Amino acid sequence: MYKPVIRPRRLRQSAAMRRQVRELNVHPNELILPAFVREGLSEPQEISSLPGIYQHTLDSIRRVVNEAAEAGVGGIMLFGVPEQRDAVGSGATDPEGILNRAIRVVAEEAGDAITVQADLCLDEFTDHGHCGVLDSRGRVDNDATLESYNEMAVAQAEAGAQILGLSGMMDGQIAAARDTLDDAGHEDTILLAYSAKYASAFYGPFREAVDSQLQGDRRTYQMDPANRREGLLEAHIDIEEGADIVMVKPAMSYLDVLADVSAAAEVPVWAYQVSGEYAMIQAAAQNGWIERERAIAESIVSIRRAGADAVLTYFATEYAQSLRW
Ligand code: PBG
Repeated sequence: MYKPVIRPRRLRQSAAMRRQVRELNVHPNELILPAFVREGLSEPQEISSLPGIYQHTLDSIRRVVNEAAEAGVGGIMLFGVPEQRDAVGSGATDPEGILNRAIRVVAEEAGDAITVQADLCLDEFTDHGHCGVLDSRGRVDNDATLESYNEMAVAQAEAGAQILGLSGMMDGQIAAARDTLDDAGHEDTILLAYSAKYASAFYGPFREAVDSQLQGDRRTYQMDPANRREGLLEAHIDIEEGADIVMVKPAMSYLDVLADVSAAAEVPVWAYQVSGEYAMIQAAAQNGWIERERAIAESIVSIRRAGADAVLTYFATEYAQSLRW
């Protein structure tokens, strides 16, 4: 009988031994919870394609903040769902727009327990659902959109957002926002660049979450899923423009891009486990096809392992509660 000399199984013999040699432990602080606040809502409303996730009122979002903070979650990323939309997304720049109001409420509730982050993009606020304003031929006008993003940046910083998540994939958005914020005295506001953001089918449930009006798709500004090298290019550009943190999104189908960016970047690298990734796990678990808690843990560990320093995930609070520290 052949007797192996090298036996990696030695270190897998018991739970205590496996824990002892584990290369990576996820800490609750490395999780960020995305959350939705909807204008004109009287009761929180569950999003059917994101079971367990709700559109919140300006009041019920306070509970979400407290639960997350209690569980040790590092931050909360806010999305606004307005009642009215128009071609230029006026609700995004209006200090009384739903997202800016939500930021004020959350900043007050959060104190220093959890970081306050806001999505900086026009798609929730435009009646055509695109991430920018359109030119006379109906194309997303990059440079005109930057003007709106700059205004949004100042409004969000003034409302109390500490980290602005620029998710619109317009060229120059980081440099433009940095310049505008600095001029307005917001030198300390942090810019999170959704650097490598792919045109993904996995954003499906998010469309319901924000009542998206989008016709068509975002392929003229979000990236082609086939492009790995371009992910690195986008991250380099954003870092050069002054991004404090860069992000790869979605997460699970882009772990190679995440590993590349994490190896190359000198700033923190985050990843977003998006709505469709959450929905797939929930749906399979509801059918009894996968073990829910194990699948959640495995998916988040794999995103961390590939190089994300922190993970935006709709499982943030629940998963943080399950971690022992
Ligand atoms: C843009 C934005 C989107 C998501 C986060 N920020 C939608 C999109 O780009 O189409 C998707 C997040 C998710 O699917 O969970 N405001």
